[in-house]
Amino acid sequence: MKIAPFKLERYYTLHEFSSEYSLCNSDCEAMTIQELLALEVGAAERFQNQWLGYTESKGSPLLRNDIGSIYNIITPDDLLVCTGAQEPIFLFAQANLKADDHVIVQTPCYQSVQSVPESIGCTVSKWEVVYKDDRPSFDLSQLSDLITDKTKVIFLNTPHNPTGFHFSKEQQMEVITIARKNNIIIFCDEVYRELEHSPAYAIPAFADAYELGVSIGVLSKSYGLPGLRIGWVASKNKEILEKIAILKEYTTICNSAPSEFLAGVALRNRATILARNLHIVKQNLRLFDIFFEKYTELFSWWRPQAGPIAFVQMKFDTNDMLFAERTLREKKVLLLPGGIYEFPGYFRIGFGRTGIPKALAKFEEFVVENLIPKI
Ligand SMILES: Cc1ncc(COP(=O)(O)O)c(C=O)c1O
Repeated sequence: MKIAPFKLERYYTLHEFSSEYSLCNSDCEAMTIQELLALEVGAAERFQNQWLGYTESKGSPLLRNDIGSIYNIITPDDLLVCTGAQEPIFLFAQANLKADDHVIVQTPCYQSVQSVPESIGCTVSKWEVVYKDDRPSFDLSQLSDLITDKTKVIFLNTPHNPTGFHFSKEQQMEVITIARKNNIIIFCDEVYRELEHSPAYAIPAFADAYELGVSIGVLSKSYGLPGLRIGWVASKNKEILEKIAILKEYTTICNSAPSEFLAGVALRNRATILARNLHIVKQNLRLFDIFFEKYTELFSWWRPQAGPIAFVQMKFDTNDMLFAERTLREKKVLLLPGGIYEFPGYFRIGFGRTGIPKALAKFEEFVVENLIPKI
């Protein structure tokens, strides 16, 4: 298999653990096993007695039951538990696409939804973000125009990495209508779901809303538990799910038993965990509002309605990759430059972690020392 290196993951591999201040992570603040177990009476003792044998390949019935509670129509039988969200993206594409297929990818994107289909030999069309007055949007008539008689899958991601864009219910229905008319699968990466900034912004999972919908979810982002490496794929379509399950036997076979146990505790206590993380997000967003209000001449600012990330445009003449290199070298502040997404002139910020106030203060030092003289 020949596949392009994953630019974003390479970038994090090289810089995440050597930078002192990160302004760009897409996950929420993590917690310790002890803190997680404390959320449920008796969980600490049960965890000590967790059996370390192989687990059921599709995920334990108990865990699938807990995951099922997130959905309206999806049942435990419509779920396959996987390793993070990366594994189900890879397996879905490998199991359901062939060289002659055409796919449409909402871009900029988390690279695997583009690179895995490309590695199979699929033709990939980009459904690219449009910015109007700093606000990201996706043009539905353009989506219709991209469809050919070979289009097999539309890859979506909502809330969207990196722009922070989130479909409304009406837009979601329009996308489904377009796909249904053409018998196209919608694969939606929903790793930032459940972190809507107000309940009014919540929309159904695509797997609930569409008979050819495939949703992926994970505990890494909104729940802030990426170390568990527990994600899943959900679909009412048995054929799609079965193909993925068969291929999983060549990758991870089954999931880690301790992680499955801890994932169950997290899901049963999701209201507490999500409220904690949303609180962090809202506190950090207030700081970003103040910061960007102060520096409107330097940066664009659009406040997302869901998720822990946003994409910021630099209004001055610079190379985003070199800019991020400098903030890292001079202030040990990690930014994620748009070049990583082949979308230059922007950088991604994250606001799900408690270290943001310090990181933002350091970034402001850099701005004051280097950019203010330029205004
Ligand atoms: C949109 C998106 N999908 C999938 C993933 C992969 O998630 P995981 O680390 O849980 O495999 C990420 C991680 O950054 C992501 O941002």
